[in-house]
Amino acid sequence: MNIDINLDEIDITKEEPITEPERQYYFIAKARDLVKKKSAEIGRPLTCKVTTFGCQMNQKDSEKLLGILELVGYEQAETEKADFVIYNTCTVRDNANQKVYGRLGFLNGVKRENPNMLIALCGCMMQESEVVEKIKKSYSFVDIIFGTHNIFKFAELLYTRLQSERLVIDIWQGTNDIVEDLPTERKYGFKAGVNIMFGCNNFCSYCIVPYVRGRERSRNAKDIIREIETLASEGVVEIMLLGQNVNSYGKTLEEPMTFAQLLQEVEKVEGIERIRFMTSHPKDLSDDLIEVMKNSKKICKHMHLPLQSGSTKILDKMNRRYTKESYLEVAEKIRKAIPDISITTDIIVGFPGETDEDIQETIDVVEKVRYDSAFTFIYSKRSGTPAAVMEGQVPDHVNKERFDKLLSVVQKISREMTKRFEGQTVEVLVEEENEQDSSLVTGRMSNNTIVHFKGEKNLIGKIIKVQLTECKGFYYMAEMI
Ligand code: 5AD
Ligand code: SF4
Repeated sequence: MNIDINLDEIDITKEEPITEPERQYYFIAKARDLVKKKSAEIGRPLTCKVTTFGCQMNQKDSEKLLGILELVGYEQAETEKADFVIYNTCTVRDNANQKVYGRLGFLNGVKRENPNMLIALCGCMMQESEVVEKIKKSYSFVDIIFGTHNIFKFAELLYTRLQSERLVIDIWQGTNDIVEDLPTERKYGFKAGVNIMFGCNNFCSYCIVPYVRGRERSRNAKDIIREIETLASEGVVEIMLLGQNVNSYGKTLEEPMTFAQLLQEVEKVEGIERIRFMTSHPKDLSDDLIEVMKNSKKICKHMHLPLQSGSTKILDKMNRRYTKESYLEVAEKIRKAIPDISITTDIIVGFPGETDEDIQETIDVVEKVRYDSAFTFIYSKRSGTPAAVMEGQVPDHVNKERFDKLLSVVQKISREMTKRFEGQTVEVLVEEENEQDSSLVTGRMSNNTIVHFKGEKNLIGKIIKVQLTECKGFYYMAEMI
């Protein structure tokens, strides 16, 4: 929770307020009243489960949904056998969509056993009209559908559904508003994501994000800093600044500010020990940012710098607005300024018109930059994007072959790069008990590499010095010192 509000003091017999976030707190109070009654009727608390597909933005949005659900009176359930299940969906690649449809089939079965159950769908997929049509037609057991722009209205939509029996659909085509001060229920006590901007203006030709997340909007620096100060006072030591293209932060503000300047402000917040950010666009990465990172004690030594393709011809068709050479130049500048930084990336294989020579160019960049790790994806055609109608769509079997070839180079280099710290003493933020062996804890180095070492659960959330004893491919075994 990042705001002090007493729901009992809200008069729910009055008309609803017009302004936000007061209006949503009013609906939280009203929904809470209905949930209390329902729970008394069935003699147990109502439960909820939020399932997230996709990126960190969605994870952050899900924390907001959970924050509202908890205030309304739902208890979190471990599984989807709950009274309220919400899928926060992703549509960046088609397999994300298919997963949602598959899981909805399963949910239908759960709902048959619990007729009181409510199912909501939100997130990027819902911004596509064909998806909503399909849900209405073939998945009529869904109760609430909303999109990415009005997630702040969740309490109001939930209340509407709770007091009526009809399907609630509310999808906005866009928004300029950013509603501050809504509740959130954080997954971790010691680390948190912080939105610094929403949407994207880049229109990479393969990407659906600008269509489903809308135009770029930056939050005011003072709202961001206030949120981070609150998080720090609650014990958060690591924050991740979130945006589709953080390097263009601040351009749309009344008083423009650069991302590098914002980072310097964030650095001043006492109690925050680690600052991460995601994602950087290579075309907007400034020398100032590199300088600020180099001189910072808190900014983590990790740069996620999506390449997408190493071929200038393909980059041009992707509308990425950089060349192979200019990308390599940026990567080299970063490595020179901060030698122990880890650089990671995203690569798409099989963009329309991609040839063997083009993939060779991509492999060449991988070999030159030497990524610590890379997410590799096979191109997925997203209808409505310019690339979907481009000539030269590459057959699946060719993509598969090129993908495997690229992956083996990526993995070989990644193993070598991860190993370069063996024997060193580093700081690790402990995140959780090890999943396989409860005598171990698991944490991350500043450069995001995973480290396991013998330790008690009370180390979770603390930054601990360890010696990296053995590199096991993509992670380390270590000893506390
Ligand atoms: N097909 C495959 N990968 C995609 N990405 C975005 N759109 C597509 C698509 N249509 C990848 C990009 C991006 C990451 C989040 O997802 O690599 O950086
Ligand atoms: Fe998509 Fe490009 Fe925007 Fe990233 S920068 S979200 S890949 S359009």
